[in-house]
Amino acid sequence: MCKNKLAEEKFAELDAFIEKLGAKEENLIEILHRAQNLFGYLPKEVQLHVSRSLKISAAKVNGVVTFYSYFTETPKGKYVISVCMGTACFVRGSSDILMALQKKLGISSGETTKDGKFTIDALRCVGACGLAPVVITNGKVHGRVEVDDLDNILVELESGVR
Ligand code: FES
Repeated sequence: MCKNKLAEEKFAELDAFIEKLGAKEENLIEILHRAQNLFGYLPKEVQLHVSRSLKISAAKVNGVVTFYSYFTETPKGKYVISVCMGTACFVRGSSDILMALQKKLGISSGETTKDGKFTIDALRCVGACGLAPVVITNGKVHGRVEVDDLDNILVELESGVR
């Protein structure tokens, strides 16, 4: 399927969602969540589409997108590795994990490797403090992670274990 056709289908799905939910400003965050799920990120083109659909300014939409750390304007890699930087994880060494991961992959938090494979994210508390320090890879929670575990986590990800 060609890229444009795929994008058209995603926009059509987003339009159907907006219509069902109601094209109102109060639904903006829910609509942006859906848009990010569909497109993987929120490029300007998608933000403009939402602003036109809800009849609100593009600046307002972009303000919401940039305010919430969950939303991203850059595409994420195939594998997203999120390191919890909440208090419990931080005191148990998550900053060492984040630094080691950044060094291993040659990117900073929030960036994606050039081959599009890995993205590193730093998160606030993910609600699993008992397992601190916590790393999440494409939705899978790894608890009590040590720097030495990172190689295995990366291999596991690439081999499709998860
Ligand atoms: S601080 Fe990391 S899970 Fe709560």
